[in-house]
Amino acid sequence: MLAASSRSIARVAFTRATLRPTVAIGVRFSSVWTNVPMGPPDAILGVTEAFKKDTDPRKMNLGVGAYRDDAGKPFVLSCVRKAEAKIAADNLDKEYAGITGVPEFTKGAAILAYGADSAPLKEGRVAITQTISGTGALRVGGEFFARWFPTSKKIFVPTPTWGNHIPIFKDSGLEVNHYKYFDKKTNGLDFAGMVADIKAAPKGSIVLLHACAHNPTGVDPSQAQWDELSKVVKDAGHFAFFDMAYQGFASGSTDKDAYALRKFVKDGHLVALSQSFAKNMGLYGERTGSFSLVTSSAEEKARVDSQIKIVVRPMYSNPPVNGARIVSTVLNNPELNAEWLGEVKLMADRIITMRAQLKNHLVNDHKSKVNWDHITNQIGMFCYTGVTPEQVEKLKNEHHVYLTKDGRISVAGISSHNVAYLAKAIHEVTK
Ligand SMILES: Cc1ncc(COP(=O)(O)O)c(C=O)c1O
Repeated sequence: MLAASSRSIARVAFTRATLRPTVAIGVRFSSVWTNVPMGPPDAILGVTEAFKKDTDPRKMNLGVGAYRDDAGKPFVLSCVRKAEAKIAADNLDKEYAGITGVPEFTKGAAILAYGADSAPLKEGRVAITQTISGTGALRVGGEFFARWFPTSKKIFVPTPTWGNHIPIFKDSGLEVNHYKYFDKKTNGLDFAGMVADIKAAPKGSIVLLHACAHNPTGVDPSQAQWDELSKVVKDAGHFAFFDMAYQGFASGSTDKDAYALRKFVKDGHLVALSQSFAKNMGLYGERTGSFSLVTSSAEEKARVDSQIKIVVRPMYSNPPVNGARIVSTVLNNPELNAEWLGEVKLMADRIITMRAQLKNHLVNDHKSKVNWDHITNQIGMFCYTGVTPEQVEKLKNEHHVYLTKDGRISVAGISSHNVAYLAKAIHEVTK
């Protein structure tokens, strides 16, 4: 029903050419959208907005999860530039991809994640579709589970988790529940709490697991803990849904970072997987990712594939081709692939170096009394510093350092030029 009153409508005319309302200045009117309330700003993008307004030359944006080089600049990988040149030289057409995307891309993405020797891949029982990056993969997955997962609509996510997981799964029609993950006392993993909560979830629940480089905490289970988790999830009759947005970013090795996923598959789990090439190939705005499901047979895969297509078709019809062409060129060309693996390691190593330098400045230069071991124990792009919301405010107002309220910093935003400044600022607000 339209919310506008007939009197106010009389005062609003639409300019036919533009369909914009033209309103006499000073005349109040109501429109169909009068009852739309202002929504809260996005927590992470809000940090960037505030950062942009700050004119102090020392300002630092540690809010956004995107890799920066040591000069603080966005980094386009050399292998990506070369792949782009190859694609341009091939003079390809701009025809639609199929509903599930560019086949050479999905094939390469599946091998990267599951491993070339993966039994389900060899047996042709992995259903995979290209998606609008990791977010799109989670959403397509959420929709598929809401329609077809037989035992439950409950998905359990860690506390805390990437903020977008919750609305993605809610909007998909799933019921979001939580399991314990981060231990504030140790700034590490609450493994006992995690296991207990997963065991206590109703049999046949979906369990969302960050495959590596957990966002926002940077805290991952050890390989021995993953082995145990595989057993716990199986014994409880649950289904593992892996979100792998940072393959290679945690350790510098794409194989090592796939340990948890491959272990679960080896143990016979029929997992779901969301993959993103935003971070590990620096393709943020290209929106290139995939969603896959390990099924029990090639025949089952065909049925699952058909239903994935039915989810995707009315959502966005088919995915964009450019990022998928870049990724498939890099993954399927031996020279570019080798160069990429080197560049992934370079990015991961720079982050590991920044962690060590930050801790070193705090402990050795400032003789901080706080235990900062978690800075180097945590892994991947993010560090959950343990800084309180009040201290976050001080960092912003007194030191021009911007981070999310939960104390998470993107380590990729630190460089050799500003690490000493950051350490001093953190020391000032935590001493
Ligand atoms: C844990 C996690 N999952 C998924 C994503 C999705 O990223 P994108 O949609 O850019 O691939 C992100 C991005 O920050 C993330 O941190």
